[in-house]
Amino acid sequence: MKPVLDGTVALITGASSGIGAATAATLGAQGATVALAARRRDRLEELAGQIRAAGGTALVLECDVTDQAQAAAAVERTVTELGRLDTLVNNAGVMLLGPAAGAPLAEWQRMVDLNVLGLLYCAHAALPHLVRAAGDGPRQVADMVNISSVAGRLARNGNGVYALTKFGAGAFSESLRQELAGQYVRVSLVEPGATATELASHNRPEVLESIRSQFGQRMEAADIADAIGYIVTRPRHVAVNEMLIRPTEQQR
Ligand SMILES: NC(=O)c1ccc[n+]([C@@H]2O[C@H](COP(=O)([O-])OP(=O)(O)OC[C@H]3O[C@@H](n4cnc5c(N)ncnc54)[C@H](OP(=O)(O)O)[C@@H]3O)[C@@H](O)[C@H]2O)c1
Repeated sequence: MKPVLDGTVALITGASSGIGAATAATLGAQGATVALAARRRDRLEELAGQIRAAGGTALVLECDVTDQAQAAAAVERTVTELGRLDTLVNNAGVMLLGPAAGAPLAEWQRMVDLNVLGLLYCAHAALPHLVRAAGDGPRQVADMVNISSVAGRLARNGNGVYALTKFGAGAFSESLRQELAGQYVRVSLVEPGATATELASHNRPEVLESIRSQFGQRMEAADIADAIGYIVTRPRHVAVNEMLIRPTEQQR
């Protein structure tokens, strides 16, 4: 039997580590040809090698999605070189925590640039291709999966701007879902809780020290990739709109 995503093409942003890398491997194993976007080419090449060794097809796209031209070029190269775009996983993100008073403004700008504008640039460039794929694709349906967070549902002391960006991803996703439902482009929101990746490591040492005590049970990146794989392999008439996933012991 053919894998479910056979003949489809998926673009995953932030594919050089964590949830994005795991998602690329999962979708590749389900038959999708994958386009891997991030800034660290060496990491993307390594992952592409693993996917190819497992019998899959992968395209490496070194790009910074906070640059609108580079985000658009990543989408266009995917379509030009792989022929189509059926699935966009808007995953690239950064989480910089700490008190708002005295926070470096550059950290707030980085989060808005990547978590909001990067996601919007990729979504904007991908939309016409997703609509086309839903019309002429092997599955007659296309997917945009936007990665939010528990912080997209629940703001906490010390995560204000990160939460702002993820609440925004939720609002945009729901609006877009309604707009595209009739065209069979499914827009899904995934809201992970604590997951073992590089995400926290970008914080200032003093912030890292103060949040270390909050580190409890964590999921693996593959656990979230599994959820994303579930979403995009549903039959055409089933849309998983939203998925909130926590480690079992995580209370808030
Ligand atoms: N880990 C968690 O506990 C958790 C919980 C909830 C939500 N999330 C969300 O999950 C998503 C993935 O994060 P992760 O946990 O897997 O963290 P991660 O390991 O730090 O991955 C982040 C990815 O984003 C890429 N990236 C960063 N800046 C970029 C840019 N300007 N252009 C293109 N790619 C860029 C990074 O690659 P390069 O550095 O190579 O560019 C990396 O591949 C994020 O949206 C995050 O907010 C994570």
